[in-house]
Amino acid sequence: HPKALLRAIQEDGDYLVKLSAQHIIAADQLDAETMKQLFRLAAKIESNPRRFSSPLQGKILISAFYEPSTRTRLSFESAWHRLGGDIMSITDRSTTGLAKGECLSDVAEMFNNYGDCVVLRDNNEESIYETMDSLRIPIVNAGNGLDEHPTQAMADMYAIFKWKPELVQEKPENPIRVGVIGVPNKMRTVRSLLKCMSLFPNMASEVVIIHDETSEADLFGEGQREELEKRGLKITLTEDMEEVLPTLDVIYINAISWEGDTFNRYGNKFQLSASSNLKPDAIILHPLARGEELSTDLDHTSHNWYFSQARGAVFVRMALLTCMVERAERVIDVV
Ligand code: CP
Repeated sequence: HPKALLRAIQEDGDYLVKLSAQHIIAADQLDAETMKQLFRLAAKIESNPRRFSSPLQGKILISAFYEPSTRTRLSFESAWHRLGGDIMSITDRSTTGLAKGECLSDVAEMFNNYGDCVVLRDNNEESIYETMDSLRIPIVNAGNGLDEHPTQAMADMYAIFKWKPELVQEKPENPIRVGVIGVPNKMRTVRSLLKCMSLFPNMASEVVIIHDETSEADLFGEGQREELEKRGLKITLTEDMEEVLPTLDVIYINAISWEGDTFNRYGNKFQLSASSNLKPDAIILHPLARGEELSTDLDHTSHNWYFSQARGAVFVRMALLTCMVERAERVIDVV
Protein backbone atom coordinates (compact mmCIF):
# COMPACT_ATOMS: atom_id res chain seq x y z
CA HIS A 1 0.00 0.00 0.00
CA PRO A 2 1.35 3.51 -0.77
CA LYS A 3 0.93 4.58 2.88
CA ALA A 4 3.80 2.28 3.95
CA LEU A 5 6.06 4.11 1.48
CA LEU A 6 4.81 7.46 2.82
CA ARG A 7 5.88 6.43 6.30
CA ALA A 8 9.32 5.33 5.05
CA ILE A 9 10.24 8.69 3.47
CA GLN A 10 10.58 11.79 5.57
CA GLU A 11 9.03 14.84 3.94
CA ASP A 12 11.28 17.55 2.54
CA GLY A 13 9.57 19.88 0.07
CA ASP A 14 12.78 21.74 -0.85
CA TYR A 15 13.79 19.07 -3.31
CA LEU A 16 10.64 19.13 -5.39
CA VAL A 17 10.83 22.88 -5.95
CA LYS A 18 13.86 22.21 -8.15
CA LEU A 19 11.64 20.38 -10.64
CA SER A 20 9.73 23.52 -11.55
CA ALA A 21 10.10 24.21 -15.31
CA GLN A 22 12.71 21.42 -15.63
CA HIS A 23 12.98 19.23 -18.72
CA ILE A 24 13.05 15.50 -17.89
CA ILE A 25 15.26 13.71 -20.38
CA ALA A 26 17.32 11.07 -18.57
CA ALA A 27 16.73 8.79 -15.59
CA ASP A 28 19.76 9.89 -13.63
CA GLN A 29 19.31 13.65 -13.90
CA LEU A 30 17.49 13.70 -10.55
CA ASP A 31 19.38 12.91 -7.37
CA ALA A 32 18.26 10.18 -4.98
CA GLU A 33 16.60 12.55 -2.50
CA THR A 34 14.58 14.34 -5.21
CA MET A 35 13.49 10.96 -6.54
CA LYS A 36 12.44 9.87 -3.03
CA GLN A 37 10.43 13.06 -2.48
CA LEU A 38 8.77 12.52 -5.85
CA PHE A 39 7.79 8.99 -4.82
CA ARG A 40 6.50 10.35 -1.52
CA LEU A 41 4.28 12.80 -3.40
CA ALA A 42 3.18 10.00 -5.77
CA ALA A 43 2.25 7.86 -2.75
CA LYS A 44 0.28 10.79 -1.28
CA ILE A 45 -1.59 11.24 -4.53
CA GLU A 46 -2.23 7.50 -4.83
CA SER A 47 -3.57 7.44 -1.26
CA ASN A 48 -6.07 10.19 -2.01
CA PRO A 49 -6.14 11.25 -5.71
CA ARG A 50 -9.23 13.47 -5.31
CA ARG A 51 -7.26 15.98 -3.25
CA PHE A 52 -5.14 16.64 -6.33
CA SER A 53 -7.89 17.11 -8.88
CA SER A 54 -7.21 20.74 -9.84
CA PRO A 55 -3.53 21.84 -9.74
CA LEU A 56 -3.28 21.91 -13.55
CA GLN A 57 -6.66 23.49 -14.24
CA GLY A 58 -6.35 25.74 -17.30
CA LYS A 59 -3.02 24.17 -18.35
CA ILE A 60 -2.59 22.31 -21.63
CA LEU A 61 -0.45 19.23 -22.25
CA ILE A 62 0.85 18.55 -25.76
CA SER A 63 1.07 14.79 -25.97
CA ALA A 64 3.22 14.08 -29.05
CA PHE A 65 3.66 10.38 -29.74
CA TYR A 66 5.41 9.73 -33.05
CA GLU A 67 5.86 6.06 -32.10
CA PRO A 68 3.15 3.64 -30.87
CA SER A 69 2.34 3.48 -27.18
CA THR A 70 -0.39 2.06 -24.98
CA ARG A 71 0.70 2.74 -21.42
CA THR A 72 2.95 5.76 -21.63
CA ARG A 73 0.61 7.96 -23.64
CA LEU A 74 -2.55 6.90 -21.84
CA SER A 75 -1.02 7.13 -18.37
CA PHE A 76 0.46 10.59 -19.07
CA GLU A 77 -2.89 11.74 -20.41
CA SER A 78 -4.73 10.12 -17.51
CA ALA A 79 -2.34 11.85 -15.09
CA TRP A 80 -2.90 15.25 -16.71
CA HIS A 81 -6.70 14.80 -16.80
CA ARG A 82 -6.71 13.74 -13.15
CA LEU A 83 -4.81 16.94 -12.29
CA GLY A 84 -7.55 18.99 -13.94
CA GLY A 85 -5.73 19.97 -17.16
CA ASP A 86 -6.59 19.79 -20.86
CA ILE A 87 -4.78 17.82 -23.56
CA MET A 88 -3.90 18.08 -27.24
CA SER A 89 -2.70 14.78 -28.68
CA ILE A 90 -0.61 13.93 -31.73
CA THR A 91 -0.69 10.18 -32.24
CA ASP A 92 0.75 10.07 -35.74
CA ARG A 93 3.46 12.35 -37.14
CA SER A 94 1.90 12.02 -40.61
CA THR A 95 -0.93 14.28 -39.38
CA THR A 96 1.51 17.14 -38.69
CA GLY A 97 3.72 19.39 -40.77
CA LEU A 98 6.58 16.94 -40.15
CA ALA A 99 5.08 14.87 -42.98
CA LYS A 100 5.62 17.88 -45.27
CA GLY A 101 9.22 18.31 -44.16
CA GLU A 102 8.67 20.85 -41.40
CA CYS A 103 11.58 20.92 -38.99
CA LEU A 104 11.27 19.92 -35.33
CA SER A 105 12.34 23.36 -34.14
CA ASP A 106 9.42 25.05 -35.95
CA VAL A 107 7.03 22.48 -34.48
CA ALA A 108 8.53 23.18 -31.05
CA GLU A 109 7.99 26.91 -31.52
CA MET A 110 4.29 26.19 -32.05
CA PHE A 111 4.27 23.99 -28.93
CA ASN A 112 5.45 27.09 -27.02
CA ASN A 113 2.42 29.01 -28.28
CA TYR A 114 -0.21 26.34 -27.73
CA GLY A 115 0.68 24.43 -24.55
CA ASP A 116 2.27 24.45 -21.11
CA CYS A 117 4.17 21.16 -21.23
CA VAL A 118 5.18 18.59 -23.86
CA VAL A 119 5.49 14.82 -23.59
CA LEU A 120 7.38 13.40 -26.57
CA ARG A 121 8.00 9.89 -27.82
CA ASP A 122 9.97 9.27 -30.98
CA ASN A 123 11.99 6.35 -32.29
CA ASN A 124 14.62 8.91 -33.27
CA GLU A 125 17.00 9.46 -30.35
CA GLU A 126 17.81 13.05 -31.32
CA SER A 127 14.25 14.44 -31.68
CA ILE A 128 13.93 15.12 -27.97
CA TYR A 129 17.08 17.26 -27.98
CA GLU A 130 16.17 19.12 -31.19
CA THR A 131 12.70 19.87 -29.82
CA MET A 132 14.01 20.85 -26.37
CA ASP A 133 16.43 23.39 -27.83
CA SER A 134 13.52 25.47 -29.17
CA LEU A 135 11.19 25.07 -26.19
CA ARG A 136 10.39 27.59 -23.49
CA ILE A 137 8.00 25.14 -21.80
CA PRO A 138 9.13 21.90 -20.11
CA ILE A 139 9.33 18.60 -21.99
CA VAL A 140 9.34 14.98 -20.79
CA ASN A 141 11.11 12.25 -22.71
CA ALA A 142 8.55 9.46 -23.10
CA GLY A 143 11.03 7.18 -24.90
CA ASN A 144 13.62 8.23 -27.50
CA GLY A 145 14.77 5.35 -29.67
CA LEU A 146 17.11 2.99 -27.83
CA ASP A 147 18.26 5.71 -25.48
CA GLU A 148 16.04 6.44 -22.46
CA HIS A 149 12.58 6.15 -20.97
CA PRO A 150 13.07 7.95 -17.64
CA THR A 151 9.50 8.01 -16.34
CA GLN A 152 9.14 4.27 -16.99
CA ALA A 153 12.17 3.73 -14.75
CA MET A 154 10.61 6.00 -12.11
CA ALA A 155 7.46 3.86 -12.25
CA ASP A 156 9.61 0.71 -11.93
CA MET A 157 11.38 2.09 -8.86
CA TYR A 158 8.08 3.25 -7.34
CA ALA A 159 6.74 -0.30 -7.67
CA ILE A 160 9.84 -1.76 -5.99
CA PHE A 161 9.74 0.77 -3.15
CA LYS A 162 6.02 0.18 -2.57
CA TRP A 163 6.74 -3.53 -2.37
CA LYS A 164 9.58 -3.04 0.15
CA PRO A 165 9.61 0.56 1.50
CA GLU A 166 12.71 -0.11 3.64
CA LEU A 167 14.78 -0.19 0.42
CA VAL A 168 14.64 3.62 0.22
CA GLN A 169 17.00 3.80 3.20
CA GLU A 170 20.60 4.66 2.40
CA LYS A 171 21.83 1.31 3.71
CA PRO A 172 18.90 -1.14 3.81
CA GLU A 173 19.31 -4.06 6.22
CA ASN A 174 18.22 -6.64 3.66
CA PRO A 175 19.25 -5.60 0.16
CA ILE A 176 17.56 -7.47 -2.66
CA ARG A 177 18.95 -9.49 -5.52
CA VAL A 178 17.66 -8.24 -8.86
CA GLY A 179 17.67 -10.12 -12.16
CA VAL A 180 17.35 -8.19 -15.40
CA ILE A 181 16.43 -10.16 -18.51
CA GLY A 182 17.21 -7.63 -21.19
CA VAL A 183 19.97 -5.86 -23.07
CA PRO A 184 21.07 -2.63 -21.36
CA ASN A 185 22.58 -1.30 -24.58
CA LYS A 186 19.52 -1.91 -26.75
CA MET A 187 16.56 -1.40 -24.44
CA ARG A 188 15.73 2.09 -23.25
CA THR A 189 13.67 0.82 -20.32
CA VAL A 190 16.56 -1.31 -19.06
CA ARG A 191 19.08 1.49 -19.60
CA SER A 192 16.93 3.95 -17.62
CA LEU A 193 16.13 1.44 -14.87
CA LEU A 194 19.81 0.67 -14.25
CA LYS A 195 20.57 4.39 -14.10
CA CYS A 196 17.76 4.89 -11.58
CA MET A 197 18.95 1.95 -9.49
CA SER A 198 22.46 3.36 -9.49
CA LEU A 199 21.07 6.33 -7.52
CA PHE A 200 20.21 3.79 -4.79
CA PRO A 201 23.19 1.42 -5.16
CA ASN A 202 22.74 -0.24 -1.76
CA MET A 203 19.18 -1.39 -2.42
CA ALA A 204 20.54 -4.42 -4.33
CA SER A 205 23.30 -6.76 -3.21
CA GLU A 206 23.65 -7.68 -6.86
CA VAL A 207 22.08 -6.95 -10.24
CA VAL A 208 22.34 -10.01 -12.45
CA ILE A 209 22.04 -9.37 -16.18
CA ILE A 210 20.59 -12.52 -17.74
CA HIS A 211 21.55 -12.76 -21.40
CA ASP A 212 21.80 -15.29 -24.20
CA GLU A 213 24.09 -15.54 -27.18
CA THR A 214 24.44 -11.76 -27.27
CA SER A 215 28.10 -11.18 -26.62
CA GLU A 216 29.14 -9.22 -23.56
CA ALA A 217 30.52 -6.54 -25.87
CA ASP A 218 26.98 -5.90 -27.22
CA LEU A 219 25.29 -5.97 -23.82
CA PHE A 220 26.58 -2.58 -22.70
CA GLY A 221 27.37 0.60 -24.59
CA GLU A 222 30.72 2.29 -24.27
CA GLY A 223 31.36 3.16 -20.63
CA GLN A 224 27.78 2.22 -19.63
CA ARG A 225 28.65 -0.61 -17.25
CA GLU A 226 31.67 1.25 -15.85
CA GLU A 227 29.53 4.30 -15.04
CA LEU A 228 26.93 2.18 -13.23
CA GLU A 229 29.62 0.34 -11.25
CA LYS A 230 31.37 3.61 -10.40
CA ARG A 231 28.13 4.69 -8.73
CA GLY A 232 28.15 1.50 -6.68
CA LEU A 233 25.86 -0.89 -8.56
CA LYS A 234 27.17 -4.45 -8.33
CA ILE A 235 26.61 -6.02 -11.75
CA THR A 236 27.18 -9.65 -12.74
CA LEU A 237 26.28 -11.56 -15.92
CA THR A 238 24.87 -15.01 -16.49
CA GLU A 239 23.46 -17.05 -19.35
CA ASP A 240 21.94 -19.60 -16.96
CA MET A 241 18.50 -18.26 -16.00
CA GLU A 242 17.40 -21.56 -14.41
CA GLU A 243 20.29 -21.51 -11.98
CA VAL A 244 19.88 -17.91 -10.87
CA LEU A 245 16.06 -17.65 -10.86
CA PRO A 246 15.47 -19.22 -7.40
CA THR A 247 17.85 -16.68 -5.83
CA LEU A 248 16.19 -13.52 -7.19
CA ASP A 249 13.83 -11.19 -5.31
CA VAL A 250 12.93 -9.00 -8.31
CA ILE A 251 12.94 -10.18 -11.91
CA TYR A 252 12.71 -7.46 -14.55
CA ILE A 253 11.92 -8.92 -17.94
CA ASN A 254 11.60 -7.23 -21.30
CA ALA A 255 12.06 -8.72 -24.75
CA ILE A 256 11.11 -5.91 -27.09
CA SER A 257 13.40 -3.20 -28.31
CA TRP A 258 12.28 -0.51 -30.74
CA GLU A 259 14.85 0.04 -33.42
CA GLY A 260 14.17 2.52 -36.17
CA ASP A 261 10.54 2.14 -37.13
CA THR A 262 10.26 -1.52 -36.21
CA PHE A 263 11.20 -3.68 -33.22
CA ASN A 264 13.46 -6.60 -32.41
CA ARG A 265 13.10 -9.29 -29.81
CA TYR A 266 16.01 -10.33 -27.64
CA GLY A 267 16.47 -13.29 -25.32
CA ASN A 268 13.72 -15.37 -26.91
CA LYS A 269 14.82 -18.43 -25.00
CA PHE A 270 13.98 -16.80 -21.66
CA GLN A 271 10.39 -17.29 -20.62
CA LEU A 272 8.68 -16.88 -17.27
CA SER A 273 5.52 -18.76 -16.33
CA ALA A 274 3.72 -19.92 -13.20
CA SER A 275 5.84 -23.10 -13.27
CA SER A 276 9.15 -21.15 -13.25
CA ASN A 277 11.34 -21.87 -10.24
CA LEU A 278 10.73 -18.53 -8.51
CA LYS A 279 11.24 -17.63 -4.85
CA PRO A 280 7.75 -17.73 -3.28
CA ASP A 281 7.83 -13.98 -2.54
CA ALA A 282 9.67 -12.88 -5.70
CA ILE A 283 8.06 -10.17 -7.81
CA ILE A 284 8.13 -9.81 -11.59
CA LEU A 285 8.27 -6.43 -13.32
CA HIS A 286 7.78 -5.89 -17.05
CA PRO A 287 7.35 -2.51 -18.78
CA LEU A 288 4.92 -4.19 -21.23
CA ALA A 289 3.84 -4.76 -24.00
CA ARG A 290 4.54 -8.42 -23.41
CA GLY A 291 5.32 -11.20 -25.80
CA GLU A 292 5.87 -14.90 -25.24
CA GLU A 293 8.49 -14.18 -22.58
CA LEU A 294 5.83 -13.54 -19.93
CA SER A 295 3.09 -16.14 -19.65
CA THR A 296 -0.41 -14.95 -18.79
CA ASP A 297 -0.65 -17.77 -16.24
CA LEU A 298 1.44 -15.51 -13.95
CA ASP A 299 -1.23 -12.80 -14.00
CA HIS A 300 -3.20 -14.30 -11.12
CA THR A 301 -0.19 -15.08 -8.93
CA SER A 302 1.46 -12.95 -6.25
CA HIS A 303 4.48 -12.60 -8.57
CA ASN A 304 2.52 -10.26 -10.79
CA TRP A 305 3.69 -6.77 -9.98
CA TYR A 306 3.75 -5.68 -13.63
CA PHE A 307 0.13 -4.54 -13.57
CA SER A 308 0.71 -2.63 -10.34
CA GLN A 309 3.85 -1.14 -11.95
CA ALA A 310 1.74 0.15 -14.87
CA ARG A 311 -1.00 1.46 -12.55
CA GLY A 312 1.49 3.26 -10.29
CA ALA A 313 2.96 5.03 -13.31
CA VAL A 314 -0.08 7.33 -13.35
CA PHE A 315 0.65 8.58 -9.82
CA VAL A 316 4.38 8.98 -10.47
CA ARG A 317 3.56 10.98 -13.60
CA MET A 318 0.98 13.06 -11.71
CA ALA A 319 3.63 13.90 -9.12
CA LEU A 320 6.23 14.76 -11.72
CA LEU A 321 4.00 16.82 -14.02
CA THR A 322 2.48 18.84 -11.24
CA CYS A 323 5.93 19.75 -9.89
CA MET A 324 7.23 20.63 -13.36
CA VAL A 325 4.31 22.82 -14.36
CA GLU A 326 2.75 24.08 -11.14
CA ARG A 327 4.79 25.53 -8.32
CA ALA A 328 5.72 22.53 -6.22
CA GLU A 329 5.31 24.32 -2.90
CA ARG A 330 1.67 25.04 -3.75
CA VAL A 331 1.12 21.36 -4.51
CA ILE A 332 2.79 20.30 -1.31
CA ASP A 333 0.63 22.79 0.62
CA VAL A 334 -2.46 20.91 -0.55
CA VAL A 335 -1.36 17.85 1.39
N1 CP B 1 6.09 0.77 -21.01
C1 CP B 1 5.85 1.36 -22.20
O1 CP B 1 6.61 2.22 -22.67
O2 CP B 1 4.72 0.94 -22.81
P1 CP B 1 4.08 1.61 -24.11
O3 CP B 1 5.03 1.34 -25.25
O4 CP B 1 2.76 0.97 -24.28
O5 CP B 1 3.99 3.09 -23.87
